[in-house]
Amino acid sequence: MLNRQQSTAVPPPVRAIVITGASSGLGRALALYLEQRGFRVFAGVRSEVDGEKLRADASSARLQPMILDVTDEKSIRAAGASVSDAVDGQGLWALVNNAGTCVSAPLECVPPAQLRQQLDINVIGALAVTQALLPQLRLTRGRIVNVSSGLGAVALPYLGAYAAGQFAKEGMSDALRRELRPSGVSVSVVRPGAIMTPLWDKVRETGNETLNQAPDDIAGIYRPSFERFLRLNERRAQLSRTRPEDFARQVFRAVTATRAKSRYYVGTDVRLATALSRLLTDAALDRCLAAATRSGR
Ligand SMILES: NC(=O)c1ccc[n+]([C@@H]2O[C@H](COP(=O)([O-])OP(=O)(O)OC[C@H]3O[C@@H](n4cnc5c(N)ncnc54)[C@H](OP(=O)(O)O)[C@@H]3O)[C@@H](O)[C@H]2O)c1
Repeated sequence: MLNRQQSTAVPPPVRAIVITGASSGLGRALALYLEQRGFRVFAGVRSEVDGEKLRADASSARLQPMILDVTDEKSIRAAGASVSDAVDGQGLWALVNNAGTCVSAPLECVPPAQLRQQLDINVIGALAVTQALLPQLRLTRGRIVNVSSGLGAVALPYLGAYAAGQFAKEGMSDALRRELRPSGVSVSVVRPGAIMTPLWDKVRETGNETLNQAPDDIAGIYRPSFERFLRLNERRAQLSRTRPEDFARQVFRAVTATRAKSRYYVGTDVRLATALSRLLTDAALDRCLAAATRSGR
């Protein structure tokens, strides 16, 4: 027989979270981390195969892969509807806009279509998913976490397209946080520094492709310094002590803190970049970055 305390105890509701871009890297690590800590995770992937791989590594049925391409309105609508059905009136606790790609090339060589695609995935896609899920987030006075980057504080050369997206995501997050304040839905930015993930191989691949497609005379101007930049950039990631779990821990803080902060930082490099961007003039920052590139730091 149940005692009185047991008979009246109501199990705490399982908090539901949507994560975009959970097939690899940081999103994948986060999906598994949150599932292990009791959250119900709707993990956005773009293929059934990736979904099955993720499900195989999960420790429970709380992790549910869900097809979600953030640039495809139909896919967003379908994902929104299936989340709404699954939570069945309980609402969504959090949305983590993590999906992203990184275009790395001299801006003179970046075709407008490639820049549009960068912004479509990293910025417009994040807003489109947010719009679709806000009705569910309002029900819980939930949380939105937008994953940005150190490149959202300091725009490095040859990462201009990516930085444009990250600065936009940061600005959009600030406006959204202020707009949603009356509704009780909080908006946080999580800003990671360099963390070794599959993103880094894609950076070299797409960077070289972009340069190869540019007219020879233009590509020739940049080729030696771009190659040096790619090497330095990769070394930065290889030497970084920050791990995907450090990122997951910061997002966990953002979704569990009594009062979510507007920004969370992951890694000492990103803290330093953020501090320098606030303290130095543009001219001084330009000199620092040029010196760091020359000395290979
Ligand atoms: N790693 C770092 O050093 C670092 C540093 C700062 C910020 N970040 C940010 O962290 C986030 C995750 O990066 P990561 O390092 O984990 O990279 P990653 O391993 O390449 O993962 C990127 C994820 O985004 C997904 N994605 C790409 N296009 C998409 C689309 N149209 N719709 C839905 N999902 C899409 C990918 O799915 P597919 O597998 O299907 O392509 C993948 O799941 C990005 O926003 C990135 O800007 C990373």
